[in-house]
Amino acid sequence: MEKFNASIAYDQRMWEADVKGSKAYVKALQKAGLVTQNEMEQILTGLDKVFDEWSKGEFKIKPGDEDIHTANERRLKEFIGDPAGKLHTGRSRNDQVATDTRLWLRDAINTLKELALQLISTMVERAAVEIEILCPGYTHMQRAQPIRWSHWILSHAVALSRDVERLEDIRKHVNVMPLGRLVLCICNTEIYLHFFFFFHSKELKFDSISINSMDATGQRDFVAEFLFWASMCLTHLSKMAEDLILYSTKEFSFITLTDAYSTGSSLMPQKKNADSLELIRSKAGRVFGRCAGFLMTLKGLPSTYNKDLQEDKEAMFDTYDTVHAVLQVATGVISTLKVNQPAMEGALSPDMLATDLAYHLVRKGMPFREAHSCAGKAVYIAESKNIHLSQITVEDLQTVSPLFDKDVSSVWDYNRSVEQYSAPGGTARSSVTAQIEHFRTWLQAQ
Ligand code: ARG
Repeated sequence: MEKFNASIAYDQRMWEADVKGSKAYVKALQKAGLVTQNEMEQILTGLDKVFDEWSKGEFKIKPGDEDIHTANERRLKEFIGDPAGKLHTGRSRNDQVATDTRLWLRDAINTLKELALQLISTMVERAAVEIEILCPGYTHMQRAQPIRWSHWILSHAVALSRDVERLEDIRKHVNVMPLGRLVLCICNTEIYLHFFFFFHSKELKFDSISINSMDATGQRDFVAEFLFWASMCLTHLSKMAEDLILYSTKEFSFITLTDAYSTGSSLMPQKKNADSLELIRSKAGRVFGRCAGFLMTLKGLPSTYNKDLQEDKEAMFDTYDTVHAVLQVATGVISTLKVNQPAMEGALSPDMLATDLAYHLVRKGMPFREAHSCAGKAVYIAESKNIHLSQITVEDLQTVSPLFDKDVSSVWDYNRSVEQYSAPGGTARSSVTAQIEHFRTWLQAQ
């Protein structure tokens, strides 16, 4: 049961948050007159020693240490003796664990944000350098229209930038002070104000203070939100990975991964497997499992703290580690992959300009529905004659619509095709450049 009950094996990761929380707490206790100046100083010195041991990797976990809170308090007592017992005045481990988890997750969010920004910045700079490269754009995985390769890269950067913004939203819900709620029930308003001042504005840099003690200790929705965030972020990256896996096949040959991000086959010497991308793709499943699993744990729990809530830690730590690794590897993959421009541009074919053929007629006054049908007929002629769309004679095109004439030849130009979409968000050089500029400004503001 001891082993089953204990969380020290994993919650020791919160050692720093735990010491920090206690240091702030004892200062508030002193302000509130619940410990003397001298006792506070002893406790602070003791906590510094605990901190020191952890940071040097010298902290020894003992069999009775159920979790990080009990372990730190036990060690503090060994250092300073009886005054250590005063630290717990008016607080419970339920306050403590909620505080530590919030402090830990706040830092984790900062780190993940930095990594996501690095990835976005890598994508944006790659898009800037390779803006001239064209490639097929697909819908339903069918060849749709020519696009700029940079346009593809940036489409994934946009999704990631929303993930970064969502992280900021989560931070608001994470960075709330839950500690000291028990004290609020037993002490007077003056004491409460000291707590508020110290925790909220100074010591722990929380943005706000919880307004209900039962909610403060009994809710882990901020953890669930983080798990959802990670699931969404990795879902985005799995989509990007899937495209790149396809593009790295010999059949496509659009890109080649560097050796550092691929592996060989133990059997077939010619193979280069996109393991990095396959793992990026897979991790979305793992993280979503954590999210779904933890929501199941939360469902139907009675009010306030129940030990079920201890399950938040492994879900949170594993998710953090996973996203941390995925973001780093994705940055490595994107910054090192080689683009095969001739293969990308060689994969374009005139049938991908069928929409442009329709627009050609639209410019001559034909309603789009009718133009779409005429272009469809032209595609049919090309297919039945086994020739490219661009090889149909003007005479044959005129059997479809008398509006066709020699100037139709201007349609058969992939560059012109991408350049015509110059509205915001389009594939024209100017539109893609505007996207890049948007990102550079946005990145600076982060
Ligand atoms: N290790 C516990 C957790 O992570 C800390 C709180 C324990 N509180 C209690 N009343 N048993 O949730």
